[in-house]
Amino acid sequence: MTESEVGIGLVGLGFVGEKAHLPAFNSIPGAKLIAVADVDLPRAKKAAEKFKLSAAYPSHKDLLADPDVDAVVISVPTFLHRQIALDAVKAGKHVLCEMPLAPTLSDAREIVEAAKRAGVVLMPSLNFRFTPNYVKAKELVEKGSLGTPAVAFYREFIAAEVLAQQWPPNSWAWDQAKSGGGPGFTLSVWAIDLLRWLFGADVVEVHSVSRDVVLSELGGTKGYNSLAVLKFSSGAVATLQFSGLVRPLMSTSRLEILGSNINSLTATGNDVLTLYGAEPDKQEWVFRKRGPRVWGHYQEDEHFVESLRQKKTPMITGEDALKAQEVATSIVKAKQALL
Ligand SMILES: NC(=O)c1ccc[n+]([C@@H]2O[C@H](COP(=O)([O-])OP(=O)(O)OC[C@H]3O[C@@H](n4cnc5c(N)ncnc54)[C@H](O)[C@@H]3O)[C@@H](O)[C@H]2O)c1
Repeated sequence: MTESEVGIGLVGLGFVGEKAHLPAFNSIPGAKLIAVADVDLPRAKKAAEKFKLSAAYPSHKDLLADPDVDAVVISVPTFLHRQIALDAVKAGKHVLCEMPLAPTLSDAREIVEAAKRAGVVLMPSLNFRFTPNYVKAKELVEKGSLGTPAVAFYREFIAAEVLAQQWPPNSWAWDQAKSGGGPGFTLSVWAIDLLRWLFGADVVEVHSVSRDVVLSELGGTKGYNSLAVLKFSSGAVATLQFSGLVRPLMSTSRLEILGSNINSLTATGNDVLTLYGAEPDKQEWVFRKRGPRVWGHYQEDEHFVESLRQKKTPMITGEDALKAQEVATSIVKAKQALL
């Protein structure tokens, strides 16, 4: 790795690998995309051709043997992260790993410990910390615009038709052992981390219930519903609501935070933030960005590259990933207890 350029290898060209990380790393100054790997070799070759990369591999092992690769992005299904991450740190490569790190906490801890022992950087992909409207929300919370944040309501609805296409019923994403607990588990890690970061506090109490509806008209995909209530060490409380039981027009992601001074913030999608206060009674910020820049992946990947170039610890560590997964695991356990 030279000070001016970090060689990047990307493993897994599915939804997040191909749509988010690939275009992001392709345009980040100081990053040089070297190669991609995917068990679906034609998919890897197509990406390598499109982005003019020197190699497309069918296995992460070939990619790890490439001396020009300094850092690896792992965006394969969750149950495959562990082996690839362990092989990568053994090969002395830095790692940006998609979340959850692994389906179980023990496997996730193994990855974090292995990276520490090898002295390489492991940054979990918790991109909500880089999403434009959440970054602005953090700035306002830190400025005291809400007094002390007291309550948050977070809601994420994804259309059943969209999910059935991205993650068909036989996909790894619905398999408890492969995903760690289905979409309710997978999706909650980002929201949990977001609230820990915004509140500057840890989760101390978790309650949850769930209800999944099998959608036979969509090939048996599950219209999941996962509802959790969290209490934080600061005294703040929050609800999380995840659903895949809606039509496309009901798709939404929305965060509301109410403060001790009766001001509140709402973040709609990833691009709008509104502050409800006294004078003025309403202020709105609209971030006109698209794709990886509005989801935060571009800024996240840029932060990873800059941390490596400047030899600084990234703002998100393995410990943050473990804390988010501990809470997500409690949500799933509580759900199982009720079945
Ligand atoms: N940060 C985010 O916004 C975000 C969004 C979606 C998914 N994710 C996470 O990213 C990961 C991948 O999810 P996805 O929805 O993109 O998955 P996906 O199923 O769409 O794609 C996975 C890709 O990995 C490839 N693959 C499978 N096994 C492989 C192997 N052994 N070696 C190399 N390639 C292999 C597949 O061929 C496929 O191209 C998951 O951990 C998921 O939780 C993160």
